[in-house]
Amino acid sequence: KNDVSIGLLGLGVVGSGVIKLIENHRKELVHQVGCDVNIKRVLIRDPEKIRNVQLDQTLLTTDPDEVLKNPEIDVIVEVMGGTEQARHYILEAFQAKKHVITANKDLIALYGPELEDAASRNQCDLFYEASVAGGIPILRGLSDGLVSDRIHQVMGIVNGTTNYILTKMNEEGTTYEDALKKAQELGFAEADPTADVEGLDAARKMAILSRLAFSTDIELEDVEVNGISNLTLSDLQYGKQLGYTMKLIGFANCHNQNVEVSVQPTFLSNEHPLAAVKNEYNAVYVNGEAVGETMFYGPGAGSLPTATAVMSDVINVIKNMRLGVNGRQFIKPRFKSVITPPDQ
Ligand code: HSE
Repeated sequence: KNDVSIGLLGLGVVGSGVIKLIENHRKELVHQVGCDVNIKRVLIRDPEKIRNVQLDQTLLTTDPDEVLKNPEIDVIVEVMGGTEQARHYILEAFQAKKHVITANKDLIALYGPELEDAASRNQCDLFYEASVAGGIPILRGLSDGLVSDRIHQVMGIVNGTTNYILTKMNEEGTTYEDALKKAQELGFAEADPTADVEGLDAARKMAILSRLAFSTDIELEDVEVNGISNLTLSDLQYGKQLGYTMKLIGFANCHNQNVEVSVQPTFLSNEHPLAAVKNEYNAVYVNGEAVGETMFYGPGAGSLPTATAVMSDVINVIKNMRLGVNGRQFIKPRFKSVITPPDQ
């Protein structure tokens, strides 16, 4: 095959970034995969919406079948968000033997294992690097870069909105409400920021990270979650006077198959590498038996950073297509976790 065709589900912030990245980095892309890569069809909800992206308008459709059942399309990129419809479309895509890339953390946190099984049964790839910490290649870092190690602990600042709010409260004395409003204006927050501030967005990402770090079967409901909406400026000031910075930290520990995952507002010593992660930035600190301490740092959201993760997945799918090894590279859960209740 001389070119690979992509069907895009959704044309929001990430979808537009994917289109821009393909255009801007076409040379690098062609060099990596040895063929051209094209967007064939784009599923949208509202044909009237004005979009800030250069695209042949005839590619747009409101009919999912034109994307999912299109025999010319090899790879589906799901960037529409939501869970039930996205799950349904992805299962349909696998039945039609199309590889799937998704940026959808809610979907993978809830249905990741089911979707991985469906992919594997159909010899298809399912990749979701963009679902956690946008521009940081942390899923590949855990499932490839550090795969030879035994990971004991992952600590993450994996929600940009809350990190931005806490940074502004801590450094500028901004109130919680004003800082949240600013984060919404800047576009990091979810449409309904409750998932950000109550820790659920971070919990979804920690569930995904824990599965990969420990090769286990942790579920979203196993993650203990506390958000930042009850924190006050005086709480932060108090910690600051003693040399501590308040962060919303995802903790995941694994010892002797006991897995504990939580998201908690936490006072970190100013000396801790995660204390230096400011504003909307994300970072994931990983402690492995052989490697010791490592930290991955970068933008956790945004159109082009997230698009780099999506397109790296596309490149990997195409490389697998060349080798005929799609659907074979999943990390299967090694063990059923024993979940340690938080009060033990
Ligand atoms: N609302 C998310 C955040 C966007 O603030 O990190 C990226 O997942």
